[in-house]
Amino acid sequence: MVITCPYCNKKHALDENRVADPSAIRNARCRGCGKVFQVTLAEPVKKEEAPAAKKATTRAIGVSLSKGGVGKTTTAVNLAAGLALAGYKVLLVDTDTQGQASFMLGVTPKATLTELVTGELPAADVVMEVRDRLWLLAGGKSLAGIKRLIDRKDFGGELTLKEALEPLESDYDYVVVDTSPGWDPLTVNVLFYVRELLTPVSLEVLSLQGLSEFIKSIAAIRKYRKDVALKYILPTFHDKRIKQTTEILDKIEKIYGSRLCAPIRYNVRLSESPAYGKTIYEYAPGCNGAQDYRELIRKVTGNSKLFT
Ligand SMILES: Nc1ncnc2c1ncn2[C@@H]1O[C@H](COP(=O)(O)OP(=O)(O)OP(=O)(O)O)[C@@H](O)[C@H]1O
Ligand SMILES: [Mg+2]
Repeated sequence: MVITCPYCNKKHALDENRVADPSAIRNARCRGCGKVFQVTLAEPVKKEEAPAAKKATTRAIGVSLSKGGVGKTTTAVNLAAGLALAGYKVLLVDTDTQGQASFMLGVTPKATLTELVTGELPAADVVMEVRDRLWLLAGGKSLAGIKRLIDRKDFGGELTLKEALEPLESDYDYVVVDTSPGWDPLTVNVLFYVRELLTPVSLEVLSLQGLSEFIKSIAAIRKYRKDVALKYILPTFHDKRIKQTTEILDKIEKIYGSRLCAPIRYNVRLSESPAYGKTIYEYAPGCNGAQDYRELIRKVTGNSKLFT
């Protein structure tokens, strides 16, 4: 702080750190002209208050493609588990009657998404902590009950899942939703809930056809819900030895450009890990499958330094 003598204009530096209370200083003697003058301290400049740490909005990502066996559940589980390892709070939601997410994580759920959607149980009794920072809302046969509930609604049936999940969202950084193959009312519900879609495509001609059909379906949904977007195309079962897979990969890259993720290689460890109820990072952390899924986490989070 600088004090100026009103008689000779000499400026004096006042070190605020050496004065207990600068506002208590009333008079000062000028070291230039020797006169005593009254000190008027300017109002301390108020420090800009830091805004309360605002939680970034939760990202809701659906892992979906109508075609079966393309690696949706493998991706949803290892994406969710990888995000949790990276320090994010993640809710994995299984909307498939096969209920494979819980099997892959080696847990037996006491309740499923059905009890949450029907209101039979509160979220606290349904959401299960399965790893550090990773929670699961399990699927399974009982999900047929949700489909019946959706069918019975005269209107708004497509928002059933959104209404059940949105109140929980703020507890998590990511909500990752696994979907069943095919196209049913629950899949439509997922598309009316998530804001981002990640589509695994196994590198074979039939999958490519499945992708173009799926994209048409998303376009139809987007007429009614603008804020869902196909953000990531994830090639799966990549095997460099098979010429056709590389050709298909080139094709997808030309169409989808930056939305294309680095492929997940065909890796036998990925097919073994579910039998042990382990994620790929637990079962074989050094294998190609684990490396490829870590790369996916870097792409989705936009943080190229993760796990390096
Ligand atoms: N990159 C991979 N390399 C080798 N095997 C894999 C790979 N990804 C997935 N698998 C295996 O392929 C099978 C199908 O994978 P997954 O269950 O994830 O597909 P999905 O799309 O969820 O199937 P569905 O449509 O039936 O739900 C599983 O046995 C899984 O362990
Ligand atoms: Mg599946």
